[in-house]
Amino acid sequence: MVHYDFPPEFLWGAASSATQSEGTVAGDEKAENIWDYWFKTNPEKFYHGVGPSITSDFYQQFEEDIQRMKDINFNSFRTSISWSRLLPDGEHVNPEAVTFYNHVIDRLIDAKIKPIINLFHFDMPMHLQEKGGWENPDIIKAFSYYAEQAFKLFGDRVMMWTTFNEPIVPVEMGYLNTYHYPAVIDMKRAVVVAYHSMLSSAKAIETYRELKLDGEIGIILNLTPSYPKSESEADIKAAHLADLFYNRSFLDPSVLGEYPEELVQLIDEYALLPERIANDAELLASNTVDFLGVNYYQPRRVKAKETTDQLEHITPESFFDYYEDPNRRINPHRGWEIYEKGMYDIAMNIKQNYHNIPWYISENGMGVSGEERFINDDGMIEDDYRIEFYEEHLKWLHLAMQEGANCFGFHTWTFIDNWSWLNAYKNRYGFYRLNLEDQTRHMKKSGLWFKELVKRNGFDT
Ligand code: NOJ
Repeated sequence: MVHYDFPPEFLWGAASSATQSEGTVAGDEKAENIWDYWFKTNPEKFYHGVGPSITSDFYQQFEEDIQRMKDINFNSFRTSISWSRLLPDGEHVNPEAVTFYNHVIDRLIDAKIKPIINLFHFDMPMHLQEKGGWENPDIIKAFSYYAEQAFKLFGDRVMMWTTFNEPIVPVEMGYLNTYHYPAVIDMKRAVVVAYHSMLSSAKAIETYRELKLDGEIGIILNLTPSYPKSESEADIKAAHLADLFYNRSFLDPSVLGEYPEELVQLIDEYALLPERIANDAELLASNTVDFLGVNYYQPRRVKAKETTDQLEHITPESFFDYYEDPNRRINPHRGWEIYEKGMYDIAMNIKQNYHNIPWYISENGMGVSGEERFINDDGMIEDDYRIEFYEEHLKWLHLAMQEGANCFGFHTWTFIDNWSWLNAYKNRYGFYRLNLEDQTRHMKKSGLWFKELVKRNGFDT
């Protein structure tokens, strides 16, 4: 038997986000964000026409849900604050939101579940989006004002903050693809969005430190290790470029305090450099993160570009192509590749190239569609596939830690099945099944497994 033991104090839990779990309640003061607006104007885009008001209703059921977290031994939990709930008009704090987040934070602490609070998880308030959202340089000030309110209100008890969850995603999905609002494909605008969101993160970190609170602040990045199809120079270069665009564009400024010179040059070569904000380099250099959250789902498989794109249609994919490795393993219920060693490779990259900064897995998970077919006679989903998925990832993480990786926790995505943007409830990820008809929650087999994992602070195979 092999034992996989994790260090004392290791953080075990799951992540969620405001828009994906809270729901809207008639009469509450929350203002519209881009998802509310997009659903209102284009409901057909959403899987089965289900929008962000139909969630697991954390806004009203958080007490019972925190008890459910406790039931499966969570010692930590990450969610986000909804910017448009806390500051509906961008200026005045909504007292109902303060009461709600205070209760959530206090209940978590009472239950000995460490809250990790994130500020931005894809949910730009609509009144700011109307002024350009991340494209408008004024957003840096608006975001730091929002961050400051949150720090002042909750920073006496929240000891771990993150500025953003997956900041590359609004860029990639909203400005290079059409899966997030405003759904345009425009590399020039994408670069501006990436640049302003990175500076907003740094400014929020500066604001946090000026308040001299006791906690720590970081950022959550989805890292996608990029593997070349062959050892040919051209394929290796292609993987290098994919890494530069999709990982290092946020990783380097967040941890090292500067953009990779090569990325800046490349962007400049294609006349895509945004208008510079005064003192940007200094802002980045002086406000690097205390820790990193890493969301890991799947790698990128990359090969050299075979055809040259017209430069007016430039995107990161103008510099490399994807390919399908015939030996890859696919999650049959979701279509994503499963490559557990990616987690080890990320850990080694952080160790070698990012001064082994403290980090944790802030998301790892397996989305499954049609999960009801695995319900047993007792009404429990037997998600052995998910247990195996987690164990195989944890084995690689464990090995990385034995080799010195500075990892302090493992969070899954997610706790209760939640609403997932355009995909709504198509793919389920939770330890608890959510029955949308009556809002009941039912523990899956993976919930029981997790409970034992935390109790034992590891597992044996
Ligand atoms: C990453 C995101 O943070 C989250 O919002 C999303 O639902 C999950 N991945 C699953 O796709």
